[in-house]
Amino acid sequence: MISEEKIRNLITRAIAARKKAYSPYSHYQVGAALLSEDGQVFSGCNIENAAYSPTICAERTAFFKAVSEGNRGFLAIAITGSPAGEEITQFAYPCGVCRQVMMEFCNPAAFLIIVAKSPEEYRCMTLQECLPDGFGPANLG
Ligand code: THU
Repeated sequence: MISEEKIRNLITRAIAARKKAYSPYSHYQVGAALLSEDGQVFSGCNIENAAYSPTICAERTAFFKAVSEGNRGFLAIAITGSPAGEEITQFAYPCGVCRQVMMEFCNPAAFLIIVAKSPEEYRCMTLQECLPDGFGPANLG
């Protein structure tokens, strides 16, 4: 179980990461903060590209930073997303591609996805709830 204090701290990190979003095309800013099993937090933002398809989501930025630093066990991710501006007006759920990347490194029954408007206003769900019957490493035997 993750304490409410840890959840709020993770959301604060995601809000800060969103400020780094590079999104001159969509003007949609996303920040994520990923908590590893050993207590480290890896943040990420979306990074867009003039050729569009090389764009990467905030969640995958955070995952790839963490994995490239040797981390493979994760407990939770906080996500904040909204059109450009200071105010976060909506709950931003992760896209299908990011859910699949989570499936690669996380226990679907335990990994917590936190979508937040603020450290006080958030929703939590497991990866299993977000991606029912997901395909993962276990399928390959
Ligand atoms: N985006 C994310 O960063 N995460 C998501 O889960 C959904 C979408 C980004 C990609 C793109 O830069 C912008 O939001 C609009 O799609």
